[in-house]
Amino acid sequence: MHTISDYQRFFLEYLEQKNTTKEPKNLYEPITYILGLGGKRLRPTLVLMASEIFGRSYNEALDAALAVEVFHNFSLIHDDIMDDAPLRRGKETVHEKWDINTGILSGDAMLINAYQLFENYQGDTFRELAMLFTKTAIEVCEGQQYDIDFETRDDVTIPEYMKMIEYKTAVLVGAALKMGAIVAGASDQCKTAIYDFGRLLGLAFQLQDDYLDAFGDPETFGKQVGGDIIENKKTFLYLKAVEFASENEEKQLRGLFSLNPEDPSEKISTVKSFFETTGARDSIRAEIEAYTQKAFAALDSLSISEDKKEMLRLFGSTLMNRSV
Ligand code: IPE
Ligand code: IPE
Ligand code: MG
Ligand code: MG
Ligand code: MG
Repeated sequence: MHTISDYQRFFLEYLEQKNTTKEPKNLYEPITYILGLGGKRLRPTLVLMASEIFGRSYNEALDAALAVEVFHNFSLIHDDIMDDAPLRRGKETVHEKWDINTGILSGDAMLINAYQLFENYQGDTFRELAMLFTKTAIEVCEGQQYDIDFETRDDVTIPEYMKMIEYKTAVLVGAALKMGAIVAGASDQCKTAIYDFGRLLGLAFQLQDDYLDAFGDPETFGKQVGGDIIENKKTFLYLKAVEFASENEEKQLRGLFSLNPEDPSEKISTVKSFFETTGARDSIRAEIEAYTQKAFAALDSLSISEDKKEMLRLFGSTLMNRSV
C-alpha cells in the first residue's frame, strides 16, 4: 500500500502523459483545458486505492481511474452549462471561454473517451467495468434531470433531494471504489461493501458541496459562491430553512426562490442569513457528519486490515472538513 497523496501523484503523472491536444483543436483544446485545471482528483484516487486495498497494483487500475476522471470532467462541462456557471476551479468555465456548442461536443467526446478507456481491460473485468459504468452514467443523467426539475418545483421533499444527490453525485463515488475492486478481482461481498461506503461518503460529499456553495470563501472556493441560490436549487440548506422557518420567514424564502433578479447579491445575502437564523446551517453540518459516520459503519462488514480501513476513514474525514 501507498499513502493517499502517493495515489494522487501516480494518477497525476499518468494524466499528464495522456492529456495531449489532438486535431481538431477546437474539439480537443477544451478537453485538455478542463482536465488540466486541477481539482481534487478524488474519484481516480479512490479507484487506485481500492485496487491496492483488494490486492492488485495500482498500475492496473490507472485506465479505470482515468476513465472515471474524464467522465467526471465531462459531467462538469455539461453541468456548468446547465447551471449557467461562470467559474470552475478558479478559472472560466468551458462554455464561457469557448461557447455552449463547444462545451456540448467536447463533453460528448470525453464521455466516449471514458468508455474507450475500458477497452484496455479484458474478458470479465472489461464486462463488469463497462456494465457498472453504464449503469452509473445513466443514473448521473437522471440525478441531473431531477436537480434541474427541482429548480422550478416548490414541493420538493428531503427524501427526493437525497435521491437526487445519490444519483447525480454519490453513485459515481461508489462506482470509483467498486471499479478498483473489480480490477483487483475482489469478491462480490467486498465489491458491494466498498460501493456502499463510497455511496454514503458521496452523499456527505454532495451535502458538503451544497454547504460550500453558500458558505465557502470566495477567495479560495473556485466556484461562484451563491450559485445554487441564484439558480433556485432546492438544496438541503433551503429545504431545512423552509422547514424550520416561521410562517412569515417561509413566505419570504419561497418568494426569493421564485425570483431571478438581474443583480442577485441581495437575494444571496438574505437567503444566507435565513440559512443561519433558521438553524439550517447547523442542521446540514450535523447531516454531513451523520452520513460520514454511516459510511464508516459500512466498512465494518469488510474483511480488510485495520490499516486499510483507517486510510479510507482518513479520506472520508478530510472530505468532510474540506473548503474546496
Ligand atoms: C464537483 O466535484 C461536482 C460534484 C459532484 C459536487 P468535485 O468537488 O470533486 O470537483 P473537482 O474535480 O475537485 O474540481
Ligand atoms: C454536480 O452538482 C453534479 C454533477 C456534475 C454530475 P453541482 O452542480 O452541485 O456541482 P458543482 O457545484 O457545479 O461543482
Ligand atoms: Mg453545478
Ligand atoms: Mg448542477
Ligand atoms: Mg454544487
